[in-house]
Amino acid sequence: MKTLNIALSKGRLSDLSIDFFEKAGIDTTELKDPGRKLILEDQINDIRFFLVKPGDVPTYVEYGAADMGIVGKDTLLEEGRNLYEVLDLGFGKCKMAVAGPPELKDKLDRFDRLRIGTKYPEAAKKYFEGVKGRQIEVIKLNGSVELAPLVGLSEVIVDIVESGKTLKENGLVILEEIADISARLIVNRVSMKIKNEKISKLIADIKRQL
Ligand code: PRP
Repeated sequence: MKTLNIALSKGRLSDLSIDFFEKAGIDTTELKDPGRKLILEDQINDIRFFLVKPGDVPTYVEYGAADMGIVGKDTLLEEGRNLYEVLDLGFGKCKMAVAGPPELKDKLDRFDRLRIGTKYPEAAKKYFEGVKGRQIEVIKLNGSVELAPLVGLSEVIVDIVESGKTLKENGLVILEEIADISARLIVNRVSMKIKNEKISKLIADIKRQL
């Protein structure tokens, strides 16, 4: 049998993803204590896990360096990669939303060229230009996005909201909801054919937990 390569997101989704594989009967001993290693193995089931930044999971899967991956829907919306999204895993739930000061509620149409601070420039463009047919100026940020409207860098932000605590503590509110986000299982299109037996079995083992 061919080795199955799975890319996992480091960070928020990592512990939840590991729990999930453990329940699906995978040996996660190495995964739970990776140290600085980037490839962790389950030799019994002949599976290798790659630990990568969330934004890189779809890249590894699209190019086939990884056969499968677990990644947030937010990253998939942003990356727009050519791959199969096979399962909603139901964890890592949050929303992608437009947020800003409460006084801008229902007033976004007043701006000729709304400035949007975001870690998700492509998803923001798809929503405003694609769905709403509006021109916007996207200002790409790498974190602490909520700061942007507070200091005049942008009018609003497009970001993920989980508990809502960050917005609340900075005096911001959700102005428009864009999408429901959760962790998704993704599969490379060619791997789905050539490693079908192994991938289908793992998907079935995972589905039993949903
Ligand atoms: C994310 C997101 C929000 C926050 C939302 O940032 O960009 O800032 O979490 O979570 P909450 O609704 O539960 O407060 P993250 O913690 O990943 O840090 P970052 O600012 O460095 O991107």
